[in-house]
Amino acid sequence: MEKLYNTKNSIHDKALKTLIKKLKNVQVKKIIDAGSGKTSASIMLKYFPTATVDAVVYPGDNRKKNPLLTAIGSDRLNVIEADICSCCFRKKYDLCLIHMTLGEAHHFGNHFSDLFHQLMDIKAKYFIIYDILEDPNVHYRYIEQYLKEKGFKILKKKKFKNPNPEHYPKVKADKYKLEFDSKHYVGYLVSRSEDK
Ligand SMILES: C[S@@+](CC[C@H](N)C(=O)[O-])C[C@H]1O[C@@H](n2cnc3c(N)ncnc32)[C@H](O)[C@@H]1O
Repeated sequence: MEKLYNTKNSIHDKALKTLIKKLKNVQVKKIIDAGSGKTSASIMLKYFPTATVDAVVYPGDNRKKNPLLTAIGSDRLNVIEADICSCCFRKKYDLCLIHMTLGEAHHFGNHFSDLFHQLMDIKAKYFIIYDILEDPNVHYRYIEQYLKEKGFKILKKKKFKNPNPEHYPKVKADKYKLEFDSKHYVGYLVSRSEDK
C-alpha cells in the first residue's frame, strides 16, 4: 500500500489542484518536483496516480530529504540530491513543479536568475511555478518577462490567499535583509513552445 503525507487541508493542495485542472487531457507520466518536500511530492503523487515523481532536494538538505523518506512510502517516488544550478537533467518530463524553490535560491548561495534559468532548462512540456507573492527574493516581473522572451506560454496565472500567513523574519534579498508576511501565493501553469 502506498503511503502519502496528508495534504487534504493544505492551501498548497487546493492551489495546485486548481493549476493542474487544465492538464486533465494531458498524459502526465513523468514529473520532476524541482525543490521537493513531503507536501509537494505527496500532492503530485496523489493527483497523478500513475506518474513517477523525481523529487530533487539540495545535497544535504535533510530538512526536506528526511520527511520525504519517512512521511511517504511509494515505489513511484525517487529522491534525488542534486544542486540544480550545477547539474543538467537529461531526462524528459511531462511536468516540472517549481514549488517554493525560487525563494530559497540565496539560501544555498545561488542567484535567483541562475536558479530560475536552470529550472526552465529542464526538458519538461509543462511547468508549474508557485511561490509566496510577498517574498522579495522571487522576482515575478522578471519571471514573466523571461517566459515571454523565451516563447513559453502562460496557460494560467492565479493568486491564492493564504489562510494562515507566516511572518518571515529578515530573509536575505540580495544585500538587504527584509521581513515579510506570506499573505498570498501565486502560481503559473506554463507550457514550453512546441519547437523547443
Ligand atoms: C521551501 S523548500 C520547498 C518545499 C517543498 N516544495 C514542499 O512542498 O515541502 C525549497 C526546496 O528547494 C530546494 N532547493 C533550493 N535550491 C536548490 C538548488 N539549487 N538545487 C536543488 N534544490 C534546491 C531545497 O532543497 C528544498 O527542497
